[in-house]
Amino acid sequence: MKLNVIVPLCALITLTQQAPSSETCFCEFTNSERAFPHDKLSTAEDSASRCNTNITPQKTLELESLMLGLERRLPRLEEDVATLEREDDGELYGVISLQVVQNELADIMELITRLNNTTLEHQRLTHVTTTKLKDLKAEMQELETFDTMQVVRGKLDNQRLRTDLDQCRNTVHDSTNTSNSPQVSQGDCPHGQFRNISGPRVSTAGEYPGSYKYGAWGRDPKPEAGKESWHWLVLLTSANKHSNYVRLYSSLSALIGGVSTPGNVLIHTANPTTNTIQGPNVVMYRGALYYNCYNQDEVCRFNLTSKTVANMKLPKGTRYNSKGNFCHLDECYPFTDLDLATDESGVWVTYTTKQDFGNLVLSKVEDDEQLRLGQTWYTSVYKQGVTNTFMVCGVLYATRFVDKETEEIFYSFDTTTGKENFNLGIFIRKMYPNILSLNYSPVDQMLHAYCDTYMVSYKVLFS
Ligand SMILES: *[C@@H]1O[C@H](CO)[C@@H](O)[C@H](O)[C@H]1NC(C)=O
Ligand SMILES: *[C@@H]1O[C@H](CO)[C@@H](O)[C@H](O)[C@H]1NC(C)=O
Ligand SMILES: *[C@@H]1O[C@H](CO)[C@@H](O)[C@H](O)[C@H]1NC(C)=O
Ligand SMILES: *[C@@H]1O[C@H](CO)[C@@H](O)[C@H](O)[C@H]1NC(C)=O
Ligand SMILES: *[C@@H]1O[C@H](CO)[C@@H](O)[C@H](O)[C@H]1NC(C)=O
Repeated sequence: MKLNVIVPLCALITLTQQAPSSETCFCEFTNSERAFPHDKLSTAEDSASRCNTNITPQKTLELESLMLGLERRLPRLEEDVATLEREDDGELYGVISLQVVQNELADIMELITRLNNTTLEHQRLTHVTTTKLKDLKAEMQELETFDTMQVVRGKLDNQRLRTDLDQCRNTVHDSTNTSNSPQVSQGDCPHGQFRNISGPRVSTAGEYPGSYKYGAWGRDPKPEAGKESWHWLVLLTSANKHSNYVRLYSSLSALIGGVSTPGNVLIHTANPTTNTIQGPNVVMYRGALYYNCYNQDEVCRFNLTSKTVANMKLPKGTRYNSKGNFCHLDECYPFTDLDLATDESGVWVTYTTKQDFGNLVLSKVEDDEQLRLGQTWYTSVYKQGVTNTFMVCGVLYATRFVDKETEEIFYSFDTTTGKENFNLGIFIRKMYPNILSLNYSPVDQMLHAYCDTYMVSYKVLFS
């Protein structure tokens, strides 16, 4: 086709060249429009996108979490000062209380400085952005007068097409990649997407009705052969803080009926002592119990077969001994500094550190031969506004207390994408007001909760 056109054209040229005449054609193009200022438009676009990167939801969140931190800490300070005053014997204030108050004050001062910095930064950003937006508006209005050739509209259309194309490409990319990954990895959920929680499926007082307010129970996701239906129970038998054994049941019905055939597996006869279980948020995995070691910023792994304990220190600054607890407005749950969790990919731990100002930090616990800390993620959710956490398919979920009947799964953090969601709105119907431990069982997709001496479970619903 092209060749057909070119040949006659060449012939034509040769013809005209051969022609003796000096006739020439002129085409005069007069543009009454001014040229479209493309450079101006691209400058405006650059400024706009810079505005976007300057002001992110992250910045607003930071302010919110700092405010929440202050809101929670001030009443506590007031309480501690009141205690201090009560202990005032006219001459000496209680030394311990004074120290507590001093620590509280230091924490609060630190928060205020950060708040001051953040607020100043926000003011500066707001000022800069307002000015920029005004300039941009003027520029865009000017550009609009030029836009008789629909340059801007055309660009927008192009952009939309490009986005569609990218989306299409991503879909293809995703489907080709997930289909040939043989193993369940983080964020890759074999059950579909987490959608909702069923009503309570099991609610039982178990073997010791009403005896222990704090505890945890569940199933080992990777049990030894022959122990597939076993359930475990840990009760904080010493002062609601400590425990020195795991109690085993051969099935769920044995646990409900209170018949413990294998009985207790003891860590140590003394309670508490080195490597005692501290706090309720423990889990079983591959025949070992993972928990916060007594009086340490460490994860302990108690091997039920060899009866040995391995320790793993958490990063410097990790809060422990009831300094970084789960809370709601009326109450903090003592000794909930560390929360161990299991999901499809293994064992995880959440905690808080001094340097992260009480925000939740999540780490993978690698349980190959040597117990060690794997990858770590930093969230922007403030731990004292959270009542518990659990993991499903590499996604961290956090709950908050709504009222005595309802707990809300309000927050998620996807370790694959780093995306946070503060607005999940999935509600757990409670049988008892306080959820003191909560963990997901990847074997049967149940959530196991220990609530005010009762064991309750829920089914996780996927779509
Ligand atoms: C506050 O900002 C100042 C200077 O911008 C900086 O030196 C200081 O470390 C900041 N303080 C905190 C707590 O972020
Ligand atoms: C807040 O920061 C500004 C500037 O850095 C400083 O002048 C001011 O004293 C700070 N205020 C407080 C309460 O820390
Ligand atoms: C799958 O993902 C890997 C990186 O994880 C990437 O290198 C590869 O190109 C992807 N495969 C396809 C077919 O897109
Ligand atoms: C979740 O399940 C509860 C019942 O357990 C139901 O009332 C609620 O509507 C469900 N929510 C969604 C979003 O499906
Ligand atoms: C527990 O100890 C047994 C026996 O020494 C060993 O075979 C097993 O691998 C250990 N389990 C873990 C999780 O370390």
